Amino acid sequence: MRNGEIALVTGANKGIGKEIVRRLAVEGFTVYLGARDEDRGRAAAEQTDGDVRFVHLDVTDEDSVAAAAKRVEQAHGRLDVLVNNAGVAVEWGVAPERIGADVLRRAYAVNVFGVASVTRSAIPLLREGSRVVNMSSPLGSLTLMSDPASPVSTRHLLAYSSSKAALNALTVLYANVLRPKGVLVNAANPGLVGTDLNGLDAERDGVRTVERGAEVPVRLALLAADGPTGGFFGDDDHATAGVVPW
Ligand SMILES: NC(=O)c1ccc[n+]([C@@H]2O[C@H](COP(=O)([O-])OP(=O)(O)OC[C@H]3O[C@@H](n4cnc5c(N)ncnc54)[C@H](OP(=O)(O)O)[C@@H]3O)[C@@H](O)[C@H]2O)c1
Repeated sequence: MRNGEIALVTGANKGIGKEIVRRLAVEGFTVYLGARDEDRGRAAAEQTDGDVRFVHLDVTDEDSVAAAAKRVEQAHGRLDVLVNNAGVAVEWGVAPERIGADVLRRAYAVNVFGVASVTRSAIPLLREGSRVVNMSSPLGSLTLMSDPASPVSTRHLLAYSSSKAALNALTVLYANVLRPKGVLVNAANPGLVGTDLNGLDAERDGVRTVERGAEVPVRLALLAADGPTGGFFGDDDHATAGVVPW
């Protein structure tokens, strides 16, 4: 049990993030459930057993990010786990030829700049053994994008895929920056999970449930201090056998 450990999960009012919160609360964490919408966030926190506390957190709003970090600092002075889960996919159904910088900006605002903003605010609270988990995707893998044999090379999601590639770069860079402090920073591939992000349904479409999708990020959130850092991990059922290529 992790009683006394403190976690913050962004974009946690629904989907995989909400399930990550539930699982960390079961482990005994005090979990801050970050959500940009107060009603949705409070409702999700009330539905979840354990020490789960709603915190208003719009990752695109620096004031909101700073206020959330301040709240954790004032209550605990530290953060054991940060899950950068908030993410958007903004281009379903739009031909890649029509995707311009405006669409990329909307994806990057949450998937890249939001992560940088939240992580910077959290760094003073991270200590030796703390874990940062960034929710990535094989769609952001340059190796898979450039492999004609990989289905990823046929997806053409200019905004989403390039934003997750940038997130992957941030993961390695933060891992390098925080290595001397003993903080572990890794990217998680939850697999293809039925959520509002993709409009898929686990039962109808034969994709993963949120319970299944939360397994890899939760495993990374629970790493021991001597665990890996600067890696991109999925699970053993995935074609990449646990390690996703950058
Ligand atoms: N589903 C998959 O197959 C899959 C695969 C690989 C990676 N991922 C990644 O997993 C993460 C979770 O996705 P999901 O599938 O669970 O999607 P989801 O159900 O759509 O959840 C996304 C969450 O992000 C929040 N969010 C969006 N913009 C935000 C902002 N500016 N500030 C704070 N929160 C914000 C949403 O809040 P609102 O309710 O207010 O919109 C929602 O709570 C994402 O990073 C996604 O890219 C998902």
